[in-house]
Parts: sequence; structure tokens; C-alpha cells
Amino acid sequence: MSYDLLVQNANLPDGRSGVDIAVSGGRIAAIGPGIAAEAGETIDASGCLVSPPFVDPHFHMDATLSLGLPRMNMSGTLLEGIQLWGELRPTLTREAVVERAMRYCDLAVSQGLLAIRSHVDTSDPRLVTAEALLEVRDRVKGTIDLQLVAFPQDGYYRSEGAAASLERALDMGLDVVGGIPHFERTMADGAASLAALCRTAAERGLRVDIHCDESDDPLSRHVETLAAETMRHGLQGRVAGSHLTSMHSMDNYYVSKLIPLIAEAGMHAIPNPLINITLQGRHDSYPKRRGMTRVPELMAAGVNVAFGHDCVMDPWYSLGSGDMLEVAHMAVHVAQMTSRAAIGQCFDAVTVNSAKAMGLDDYGLEVGKAADMVVLQARDPIEAIRLKAARLFVVKAGKVIARAPRRESRLDLPGRQLTVDPAAYAPGE
Ligand code: FE2
Repeated sequence: MSYDLLVQNANLPDGRSGVDIAVSGGRIAAIGPGIAAEAGETIDASGCLVSPPFVDPHFHMDATLSLGLPRMNMSGTLLEGIQLWGELRPTLTREAVVERAMRYCDLAVSQGLLAIRSHVDTSDPRLVTAEALLEVRDRVKGTIDLQLVAFPQDGYYRSEGAAASLERALDMGLDVVGGIPHFERTMADGAASLAALCRTAAERGLRVDIHCDESDDPLSRHVETLAAETMRHGLQGRVAGSHLTSMHSMDNYYVSKLIPLIAEAGMHAIPNPLINITLQGRHDSYPKRRGMTRVPELMAAGVNVAFGHDCVMDPWYSLGSGDMLEVAHMAVHVAQMTSRAAIGQCFDAVTVNSAKAMGLDDYGLEVGKAADMVVLQARDPIEAIRLKAARLFVVKAGKVIARAPRRESRLDLPGRQLTVDPAAYAPGE
């Protein structure tokens, strides 16, 4: 028997170790200990975690890497970011958006990030962003699964012509219906927008992903309407509530009704830890609220929770590097998910849970699935998050599409001239 690729002696996220993964024709042909066979390429993964690829279920690829255009966000606030985007948007060209997005996709591949759901602002009737991202989706096909959300960023009702633009963007081929109910003029308009958007999705057979209640206002309760509309239109399992930050500030009694409702609707929750912790709580003095939604409680109720990156070097966020381990790392801290089990749940939230939120059926380290995986310089998911571990090999359809050297430093101290490997420190050793 000869395989195209054989990954040997891997640790898997579920705790198994000493596992070989054999690949043939771009698919996983066998998984188990001691697969002895010839292979076109062999990777020695001894002591390394081999994970399915990272998946970002919430991003803005039309804005990424635009930091500094036309000027910097001096306050670092959401409101100045929105204002800046409003200045930049009319000047965008298809070529410039494509060029920045392609550069981000290169960065994503190097980080083992091989599936991304990007919101695409459809407010400008020129739809330059939609045209550009459709081109990018085509160009990265076979490398990155890019899902595009038609996102009426200025409001479905609040911005004149937004409903028509959104429909046109969906006609052009965008994949998912977006919305922003808390940004409409009134709560009633927000609720009406959700009814209209869920109806559109049901009619077109599409999924829904709503920027929902991205606010510190505990009375911003559009998520309950989203759950109700999900059930009304039979969209269970196909709807995501992104951000849901108001839930952080809600009354506990109300939340005790709300979370079971979200679970009943089979909704996915997509918090964005890096952005929620920086943009929420800005009207607070001290103590300052964290703003991230109630992740452990949602998970305990059986809701699929996936973490998004949201922004990298754009009007809203100066930082970020396409590293979903950095996202998970922030979530561990903000949600105080520091038990061994909870840190593992945060790793799932940037891999399997995100794939589930996006509806990626061909995902996972199982025989018959696409041979997509990342070899990390870490022995387990906890160490991967702790170190934001190097991606030694990124594999897509059985081919190595990125590789990096081990991260290590050479010390030059008297009597201690040695190599320091950040992954050389294990509990109990
Ligand atoms: Fe967002």
C-alpha cells in the first residue's frame, strides 16, 4: 500500500497519541497507530498536536489590512471606526479590496486558517465589496473555504436602498444573509428587519448570520426575536447570532429564559473575544464590563459556540494576525475559562465548533474526510493556546501548502549556551 502523505506519531485534539494519518487522493484513508506503508511524503509529528484546520466564522475581509486609510482611528472606539469606514468606503476600488483580501488569505494559510466566513458590507449600491470578495472566493477556492455574508452594515431599514442592495448581492452569489438589528432606528425596526431577513433566507435556502445586540444595552434583546424567527421559518441549525454582547449585561432572570430559547432554535453563537473586550464597556467608568457574551453558560445549555476574529488591522482594530489561537487565548481570559476542560472547549470553538457554525460537512480528522490539517509545535490544545504555537505544516487536500521551522532561540550566556524550545515545558515534568 502506498499513500500520498503519511503523518506519523501525532497527538490528536481528543487526547489520543501515537496516531498515524494516511492520505490518499486528497482524503484521509486511514487513522490509527502503526500504519506501516510507503508514502510520497512523510511528516514526523512526534510530540506535536495535529488538528483539523482553524476556522474563523466571523470576519470582515472587505475592511481587513486597511488600517491607516484614510487615517488612523485615534480613539480606538467602535463609533470612530464606523465613521472611518464611512469615509473609506466610497473610495474603495475592486482592485484594492481584492489585493488586501488576497494578502490576508496568504496570512491565513500560513496560520493554518483554511475556512473563513466574511461579512461583506452591501450598503454602498456600487457593491464593489461584493464583486471583489466574489473574485477572492473564486481565487482561493481549493485552499480556503470562503463564505460571504451579505451584510447591510448601515441598517436594512435605516439606510435607504439597503434592502435592494442586499437582494442584488445575494443574486450575485453571496452565500449567507446578514443583518444588524440593534443599529436600526428603533427596536421595532430591528425586529422587523429580522423577520424580513429570515424570510429572505428561507425563500432562498440560505443560512443567516446576524450582528446581533453588539451593545452594552441590557435591553437590546433582538436575539430573542432571531430565535423566534429561526423557528418560524424552519431555519434551525442554519442561523448564527454574532457578538450577542448585550447578554453580558442582561438581567440573570431574563437570561434564564433566553438561553434555553437559543438552544431550542438550534442557533449558533459567535462571540468575537478580541473585539468584544476592546469595544464594549466604553461608556463605563469603573468597574468596566467585559462585554463578551455568556460563553460557558451557552455551552452548558448545548448551544454551539464558535469564536470569530472579526477584525485584523482595520478601522476597528489595529492588531490581529489571523491567528485563531490568539482569539481562543483571549476567550480563555475574558470568560475565565481556565479549567483544563474549559481551555479545551476554547480550542474547539476555533476549530470544530466554527466548522459546525459554517455548515462545513467535509471537516474533521476522520477517515473519508478531506485531508486538511495543521501540525502544531505543541503537544495538546492547551499548550497550543498557551504558546500560540507555530504551524509547522499546513496541509490541504493532502498537500503541504505551508511550512515553518520550529520556533526556538539559541541562548548565549556564560555556562548556558543552549537552545530554548517554548514547547519544552510540560506539566508535572
Ligand atoms: Fe463583525
